[in-house]
Formats: sequence, structure tokens, C-alpha cells
Amino acid sequence: MNIGIIGLGSMGKMLAEKFAHGSDNVTNKLLVSTRSKEKLTLMPENVGVCDNNRELAEHSDIVFLCLRPVDMRGVLEEITPCLKNDSLVVSLNGSISFAQLEKLSDRSFAKVIPSVTAEIDRSQTLVCYNNKVTDEYKAALESLLSVIGDVVILPESEMGMGSELVSCMPGFISAVFDVICSSAGKHTGISHEQVVQMVLKTLSATSSLMLEKGMSFNEVVGRVATKGGITEEGTGVIYDSFPKTADELFDKTLEKRRITAEKAEKMFG
Ligand SMILES: NC(=O)c1ccc[n+]([C@@H]2O[C@H](COP(=O)([O-])OP(=O)(O)OC[C@H]3O[C@@H](n4cnc5c(N)ncnc54)[C@H](OP(=O)(O)O)[C@@H]3O)[C@@H](O)[C@H]2O)c1
Repeated sequence: MNIGIIGLGSMGKMLAEKFAHGSDNVTNKLLVSTRSKEKLTLMPENVGVCDNNRELAEHSDIVFLCLRPVDMRGVLEEITPCLKNDSLVVSLNGSISFAQLEKLSDRSFAKVIPSVTAEIDRSQTLVCYNNKVTDEYKAALESLLSVIGDVVILPESEMGMGSELVSCMPGFISAVFDVICSSAGKHTGISHEQVVQMVLKTLSATSSLMLEKGMSFNEVVGRVATKGGITEEGTGVIYDSFPKTADELFDKTLEKRRITAEKAEKMFG
């Protein structure tokens, strides 16, 4: 299949570079087009550069729209007459609904949300489909996205919470451990850099331990926090105080997501 990417900003450039260097068995040709033409010169040699979005749409079977909501409507209107009959259009924007997209273009749509961990090919990329996408196209898209990590299929209604768990989570994890490392720094002469290294490697090893051994959070806590011991003092503080913070975090982010979706739909028109 020919894969087209419209918009070479943060997401489009990352996907173009990953697809260009990755080995999937889907891509015949990789094509790109974007607004600021100087960005086209930065593409790897095996990427086909199109003069405009319509040319890309004519020659692509899967078209990625790596655009902000404000630009999405114009580009979708521009390319719709040129799209192949059975091509799949993939929106990278989580806030514009299939219902909105379908008002402009009555065709197969997917929404795709990669995580920043795609940089090291360990994204858990969220995908949802409207009801027009065939199994052949689903398999092709999922195989293509496996170049950047795992693919997680969700219903459209769960993409918001899904995004909190995989797309926002690297930020939440970083913020939590930033606070922990700063607090540790107040009680130790170990340098901040070394504290961060020690915590990050322990964090990574704890994830691997749980994933490889199938351990739950409670099992890990139980292994480390012996009754009346030092770790139990610390885990007690976390279980007493942190649930309120975690509840507030999701209340706030999900509300912000709702407001952002309203704004995006207005921008989209
Ligand atoms: N960034 C993230 O971490 C992330 C994660 C998941 C999903 N998303 C979603 O992915 C989408 C893209 O985000 P982004 O961060 O990549 O945005 P971005 O960096 O602003 O990139 C958007 C690109 O679209 C290009 N563009 C605008 N109008 C165009 C047109 N008419 N024809 C062709 N190209 C056009 C822009 O060109 P110029 O260079 O000329 O401005 C820019 O290169 C957004 O909807 C966002 O919500 C982002």
C-alpha cells in the first residue's frame, strides 16, 4: 500500500522518519506533503515528496492527517475529491469526533494517538475506527504502527481515558518522580543526577519485574514492605495521601479534555 503523511510537524515528522526506517510489510511507497516546503528537504531519501496535498491523496491508500484541529477541515475538504475510493483517512487528533469528520467526508476513518515513547519504538499507540473500515485496512494500519511499538484498540468513547493512560502518562510519571527526587535531595548528600539515575533505573526495573513475573502492585508492595518495617512507613503515607491527588488529577484532566474537544469541534466547524 502507499502511505501518505500530510503535515510534517512534531507528529508527522516523527511518523515519517519511523515509517521510512522501519521494516513493515505494508508500505510500498511513503509519501509526504506539508505547508512549509523547507521541511520537505529534511526527509529521508526513500520518502516521496508531493507538491501538494491533493497529489498525495490521489496516490495514497492510507492518508495520515498530522494536523492541528484548526487546519483539519480545510485539508479534508481539499483532499476529499482526490482520495481513492477505498482509502483510509487517519486523524492524529483525538478531539475531533468521527461524526464531525463524516459530515465532511463519508468514508473510512481511524483515529491514532501515539505516545512520546514512540521515539524509542515503545509507543502504546491508541487506535479506534469508524464502522466503515475493512479488516484488510485495519490489519495494514496496525502492522504499520507496530513499527513504533504496541497497538491498543479502543472504542472511540474510551480514547480520552486511554490517552491519559499512555499519552499523558509519561508526563504524569515524570512529574511524580521529579517531586520524589527533589524531596530525596533535601535529605541526602548524593548528587541530584545520581538520585535521578538511581530512581529511574529502579522504576524501569520494577516495571520489568512486574511485567515479566506477572506481579501486581500489591504483590510488589507486599514483597518490599514487611510488617512494621521502614518501607511500610512510606507506602502507608502514599496510600493515605495520594488517592486524593490522583482523583483530582483525573477529574481535572478529563474536564480539560472535554473543554478541548468542544473547542476543537468548534474550530473544525
Ligand atoms: N504533539 C503530540 O505529542 C501529539 C500527540 C498525539 C496527537 N497529537 C495530535 O497530532 C496533531 C498534530 O500535532 P503536532 O504536534 O504534530 O502539530 P504541529 O507540530 O503544529 O504540526 C502540524 C503540521 O501541519 C502542517 N500544516 C498545517 N496546515 C497544512 C496544510 N494546509 N497542508 C499541509 N500541512 C499543513 C503544519 O505546517 P507548518 O510547518 O507550516 O506550520 C505543521 O507542520 C494534532 O491534532 C495533535 O492534537 C499530537
